[in-house]
Amino acid sequence: MLLVTIDRSSKKSLQEQIVSEILTHIESGVLEPGSKIPSSRMLAKQLKLSRNTVMNAYQRLLSEGFIETAASSETRVCKVLPGDLVGIGSGSVESDSKVFERGDNAGSTKPKYAPVIFSGPVQEIVNKNNRRILYDFWVGRAHQKLFPSKIWQELLRDCIGYSSRQLAQYGNPAGLESLREAIAEHVRYTRAIPATADQVVITVGIQEALNIIARLFVEKGSKVLIENPCYQGAAFVLKSYGAELVPIAVDSQGLDVSALPECGSNLIYTTPSHQYPTGVTMSLERRRKLIEWAERTGTYIIEDDYDSDFRYDTTPLHALSGLSKHGHVIYMGTFSKSVGAGLRLGYMVLPKQLIKPAVQVKTLLNNHNGWLDQAVMAKFIQEGHFERHLRVIRKDYKVRRDVLVEELRKHFMDARIQGLAGGMHITWTLPDRGVSAEALKLEAVKTGVGLYTMNSGGAIDLADTSNSARQIILGYSSLDERQIVEGIRRVSETLATLKCA
Ligand SMILES: Cc1ncc(COP(=O)(O)O)c(C=O)c1O
Repeated sequence: MLLVTIDRSSKKSLQEQIVSEILTHIESGVLEPGSKIPSSRMLAKQLKLSRNTVMNAYQRLLSEGFIETAASSETRVCKVLPGDLVGIGSGSVESDSKVFERGDNAGSTKPKYAPVIFSGPVQEIVNKNNRRILYDFWVGRAHQKLFPSKIWQELLRDCIGYSSRQLAQYGNPAGLESLREAIAEHVRYTRAIPATADQVVITVGIQEALNIIARLFVEKGSKVLIENPCYQGAAFVLKSYGAELVPIAVDSQGLDVSALPECGSNLIYTTPSHQYPTGVTMSLERRRKLIEWAERTGTYIIEDDYDSDFRYDTTPLHALSGLSKHGHVIYMGTFSKSVGAGLRLGYMVLPKQLIKPAVQVKTLLNNHNGWLDQAVMAKFIQEGHFERHLRVIRKDYKVRRDVLVEELRKHFMDARIQGLAGGMHITWTLPDRGVSAEALKLEAVKTGVGLYTMNSGGAIDLADTSNSARQIILGYSSLDERQIVEGIRRVSETLATLKCA
């Protein structure tokens, strides 16, 4: 039904009003050239008018070349419209000049708008759709062939069967109870976090979790400590709430805890399992020290555990959240890496005192996540599919990682590689003297290879250390072995050419 409004108390005739409404729709783009408009019978019924009135209005639009009757006897907007609509609106349709005036700015040539007060960069999450990239080492992307489509469809069908009540109503802002229970059990077993379901809040990925926490703790000028280099998605969201980011360096053992200030901040962000972007794992000693520091200074630690489900050669270390005895850790997890980012499902495990305020913010943001996806995910975990799926993809990703490392070592004997222990990417530091990461990226793309530097790979170096200009982030999870082999071979050729140039 096309929205057409008429005012029976207006001095304008009903026929003129219909003409004016249709022209407004054409001019604004609501009705595109060639699109169908309601039949005169339907519109007359809709507006409770005689059909003649509508037919007369249509006749006028027809004679002026705005609409036409197609062979199917449907009425459509003409594909080619007569001249400049603005001119026509004020000219040919008597008393229609108002149709094309826009609010307060009518008559002025330059429209005026209220200023947008937000401005800021946003994270690179999707590499540009570049068809020339055949071997794309984009970071942190689950392999689409490994998505558990079959079981997902079965579970969807199952859940749809009893969904009418749940889909018709609002649910708990903290999330679906069964999913929160399933997640609590998952993190208890795999991350040694003694979580209960009431501490779990379901979010639209970690990105929403970060927004919720920023809303709770950040205002203009708040100092927030952040590992450096770091994930753009975290840095930019904190900044967007007015945070002043204080970079804390990362070395081969993770965040440099000795560099933490004794006061001045209430929040610190870190990715201890597989630091983004360097890939290093925070040592147990550092974890303990970080918690001691947080307890001493009253700081909350945001533990972003985005790809902790992938650990290849050693057992994972205890999550900070499990090590903290006094509730100083806000744990964030996501299904973006383990199942698929398109699901937009993540979660927080919160210290008890933060549950209520966090759920309030979640309610303000969007009331709660959609029921169906939560219900399917709950079953996916509870029925054991998640564990099985993780076993399959871990094995698969490990093979890809091994091939990538082998190829790098084959072509560049002394390649400096970090972040092998887990996750879905590694970082490769180019030799100190020679080609920069940016130059290599630009040349590689000409040969069909997508390489990512810190900035183009969704990371940022807030202290602009020289090392970051030499780092390439190599995601391997979405490439098959053949692609990895050929991709690195091409990179090797590109580097050789650049060295000779
Ligand atoms: C460090 C880090 N945290 C979190 C995420 C995932 O966020 P989300 O759960 O919103 O997809 C990513 C995605 O690449 C990431 O790299």
